[in-house]
Amino acid sequence: MTTPVATDLSALPTLSSQLNELDEAQLNGFADAAIALITQATAVPELQELRVQLTGKKSSLTSWSKQMGQLDADDKKTYGGWLHQVRSRISQALSEQQQQLEIAALNAKLAKESIDITLPARGGQKGHLHPVTMITQRMQQFFVQAGFNVATGPEVESDYYNFEALNIPSHHPARAMHDTFYFDAHYLLRTHTSPVQIRTMEQSAPPIRIICPGRVYRNDSDQTHSPMFHQLEGLMVTESSTFAELKGLISEFLQAFFGKELTVRFRPSFFPFTEPSAEVDILDDNGKWLEVMGCGMVHPQVLTNCGIDSDKYTGFAFGMGIERFAMLYYGIDDLRLFFQNDVRFLQQFG
Ligand code: FA5
Ligand code: MG
Repeated sequence: MTTPVATDLSALPTLSSQLNELDEAQLNGFADAAIALITQATAVPELQELRVQLTGKKSSLTSWSKQMGQLDADDKKTYGGWLHQVRSRISQALSEQQQQLEIAALNAKLAKESIDITLPARGGQKGHLHPVTMITQRMQQFFVQAGFNVATGPEVESDYYNFEALNIPSHHPARAMHDTFYFDAHYLLRTHTSPVQIRTMEQSAPPIRIICPGRVYRNDSDQTHSPMFHQLEGLMVTESSTFAELKGLISEFLQAFFGKELTVRFRPSFFPFTEPSAEVDILDDNGKWLEVMGCGMVHPQVLTNCGIDSDKYTGFAFGMGIERFAMLYYGIDDLRLFFQNDVRFLQQFG
């Protein structure tokens, strides 16, 4: 937007409109005053207006030039020289001032639009890992140091690996404990990480020491159950694995993970793929037992299913609920909070 500029020519000396009444000093004085006005112009539109007033059709300069024709040859030469001098001084001042104003305008624009990259960014908050990921890493760290390798398996699993090979034939009542999401008669979303035991034992010979962290799915939802959750499976198969060793390993792990004594119980339980079996409960802050894992000695039939000589080898296995550990570790009373993606909740774990 350009606003009209009032150009004040009152600073110019008042000169006769008749060229032949003027002398060189007067004309030079006129040029000096005009140049002084020009150098005071602070904006391009103002300068444009001055150009019109000083050199345009209605300017004194133009009217004097028009009178040149009426002069005799000598005067023509004299006045011609003076007028030329005046006009070229004014023109030069106009173009110099124009250049300066344009540079100043450009610099002002650049200064206004420049970005100070040293300023701290708005909302520049550092992200961090999801609490469930951090807990998984903390668990893994212990077992990797204890000599376990990390194994993985598919989340879309076959009925054979999720159930059959683990000694859970169809119509076995244990299937009812896993509220399974089926795709069809053969494929399902794995309900636990135990199928990775089978896949590992099929492909490798003892001694075996693996852990398998991963997502599992069950049609389950309340304060301590979510339809998608994580387990960390463990499997050890050697010529001499015992239940005492399993219990010792789990106790060591719990001590290292929580860094403090917790009230823990090994409760006799049942899984078709382990014998004997136990579940591990931990007393939470509210004095309630929270079941955190299932475990036991690998059932000889499961070893046989995977082509491992069950007379020679014994094994133990465990499957932990990762979110349950996160609940106890952080003192969270509703497991579903981990998956609501509420930034206010997640920010607390930074
Ligand atoms: C099993 O899934 C067995 N595969 C564990 C196992 C592995 C036993 C190897 C023996 C040998 P269970 O259904 O109890 O067991 O689940 C294991 C743990 O997962 C539970 O102790 C609990 O901590 C957690 N869990 C189970 N269901 C859910 C759920 N819906 N949401 C969150 N955590 C769950
Ligand atoms: Mg259980």
